[in-house]
Amino acid sequence: MADDHQQPTVALPGGGAMPMVGFGTWQLTGGRCYEAVRHALDVGYRHIDTATIYGNEREVGRAVGDSGVPREDVFITTKLPPREAGRERRTITRSLQALGTDYVDLWLVHWPPNHQARLTIWKEFLAVRDDGLARAVGVSNYRVSQLDELREASGEVPAVNQIRWAPPLYDATQVAQHRRRGVVLEGYSPLKATNLREEVLAEVAAAHGVTPAQVVLRWHLDHDIVVIPKSKSRDRIEANFDLFGFSLSDEERRRVDGLAGG
Ligand SMILES: NC(=O)c1ccc[n+]([C@@H]2O[C@H](COP(=O)([O-])OP(=O)(O)OC[C@H]3O[C@@H](n4cnc5c(N)ncnc54)[C@H](OP(=O)(O)O)[C@@H]3O)[C@@H](O)[C@H]2O)c1
Repeated sequence: MADDHQQPTVALPGGGAMPMVGFGTWQLTGGRCYEAVRHALDVGYRHIDTATIYGNEREVGRAVGDSGVPREDVFITTKLPPREAGRERRTITRSLQALGTDYVDLWLVHWPPNHQARLTIWKEFLAVRDDGLARAVGVSNYRVSQLDELREASGEVPAVNQIRWAPPLYDATQVAQHRRRGVVLEGYSPLKATNLREEVLAEVAAAHGVTPAQVVLRWHLDHDIVVIPKSKSRDRIEANFDLFGFSLSDEERRRVDGLAGG
């Protein structure tokens, strides 16, 4: 069992720390979601990623509540469906009710409505944060130019941008652009977006006595990128968190980077 004190975290602009390995919950609903989140918390995950459209906030909240882990030790993210633009407050209030909590650690705009950054939503997000309903606010699936739009108009950059990320999508320029702006890059679909049969992953995995999936997840951490793998299987939930006993050498990391554009 992992000791959660050893988990790497990243500081969020404005305060707070986000565990770098989170548990993804898309496509987990009902009892299966509850069991998966309970198991994730049992094995040491302290960061759970949900969204209003996943239809599982109630199960996530119940799992956190029943886990015995103090609320303040779990980092919970949920997301505003873009169709709820204009109804931000009502949406976060319902999310909090479903989750059974007074605040989320991170609230994200799930994707830019009609491909637009939408300053009105962002201003409402900042107000919700200032009222204490979300400790931090950010976005998902935004382009860097859209992060700039929000910052220029409001004076505040999103704390996090959650985007699809995996070795085949590796882009050093994008990493640098987020870092320069002080925006935490959080990756999603790390495993789905990777061909786990790539030879380089097998070779690096063999060198460390781990699986190709664990190499992919560790590669994120070695790049200081937050990663949120999802699984419904108990064994995979455990394996996806068993990342703290090894790390990639610079050369191994560069070889995995090479899967991009290959
Ligand atoms: N912001 C957004 O727009 C957005 C979009 C997509 C996802 N997300 C978030 O990111 C999370 C992760 O992304 P994702 O669910 O799309 O994909 P993912 O975590 O990359 O992959 C999940 C898939 O990989 C399988 N899997 C899990 N562990 C594995 C392992 N060790 N070896 C081999 N296969 C494994 C899972 O199957 P089993 O369940 O059978 O193990 C499932 O089919 C989501 O759950 C969600 O919270 C956000």
